[in-house]
Amino acid sequence: MNLAAAPAPVETGAFSPLALGLTRGGEAVPAFLACAAPSWARAVEARRGDVLHENELRTYEGLRFERRRDEFLLGRFVAKVALGEYLGERDWATLEVVNGIFQQPLVRHERVPGEPGPPGFPWTPSTRSGNPRVGSSLAAVCLTHSGGAAAAVAFPAAHPLAIDLERLEPDRLGTLQTQVSLAEVDTATLSPDEALRRVTQLWTAKEALSKVLRCGLTTPFEVLAVESVVFRNGSAEGRFRNFGQYRFESSIVGGFAFAIVLPRKSSLGAGVAAWLAERLEAEP
Ligand SMILES: CC(C)(COP(=O)(O)OP(=O)(O)OC[C@H]1O[C@@H](n2cnc3c(N)ncnc32)[C@H](O)[C@@H]1OP(=O)(O)O)[C@@H](O)C(=O)NCCC(=O)NCCS
Repeated sequence: MNLAAAPAPVETGAFSPLALGLTRGGEAVPAFLACAAPSWARAVEARRGDVLHENELRTYEGLRFERRRDEFLLGRFVAKVALGEYLGERDWATLEVVNGIFQQPLVRHERVPGEPGPPGFPWTPSTRSGNPRVGSSLAAVCLTHSGGAAAAVAFPAAHPLAIDLERLEPDRLGTLQTQVSLAEVDTATLSPDEALRRVTQLWTAKEALSKVLRCGLTTPFEVLAVESVVFRNGSAEGRFRNFGQYRFESSIVGGFAFAIVLPRKSSLGAGVAAWLAERLEAEP
């Protein structure tokens, strides 16, 4: 990842998001990335009352499976770190990330216009947990969790972004390969380790595309096909066959593949991969 304004860590006590150094047409676009290693889970759990909005806390407490509880909590935590920086909000419990009808994340906060909805038409149907499923906002967030780690990016809704993180798992190579075509990467010419890295990178690019489009993986994989990709020293940059307005950058960071999908004509600052690799190893 190269180009444009250099990203800069933003100090918020112990938790520091990365300003992505995103630019479009020479103008800076505010966007902040946060990431937490699996080892953060217990520390965040101890502070869940400071991290979660009361509705999120109810959702969290209603989750039955420990793995989902952990990923929900760490995912909301990194979302708050990134959104807190974006909105200048230090009280994370005032921020709420709700899931829309397609499970897409939406931001609720007093400084986000559009909440709680037009006067006289507050469309706030509740889930069984009591978590309202409504939101229209100018601040947006995308989050991802894998292998106990989590990352989130906060950005203006007017400038869509999406991310995906996927732990490199040799056991999953066969499954992932079924969703990656020969035209995208010819794994027969690669070592098993390199094949796993490249296939997982392409997977993360497609999953991130599915998030930016808000359809998720309910869409056939061939719709999300990669048109062209260049792999270089653990990084990859490419374009999509059916969505020429977007492109992706992907990196191998620690034991994970990470991808960000962004508008084709926007540029990302340098150093994102190195920052992520460091965060994925950082202890709370
Ligand atoms: C989007 C999707 C590909 C993410 O896959 P995943 O294995 O959960 O991967 P990640 O951990 O990287 O991402 C999870 C986050 O993606 C976000 N997400 C879910 N659906 C999304 C969508 N349609 N658009 C954008 N983002 C979405 C959520 O914020 C979710 O985290 P949260 O549930 O803790 O809020 C997958 O959830 C999907 O296909 N969703 C489509 C909608 C769907 O089928 N829902 C099932 C209803 S039972």
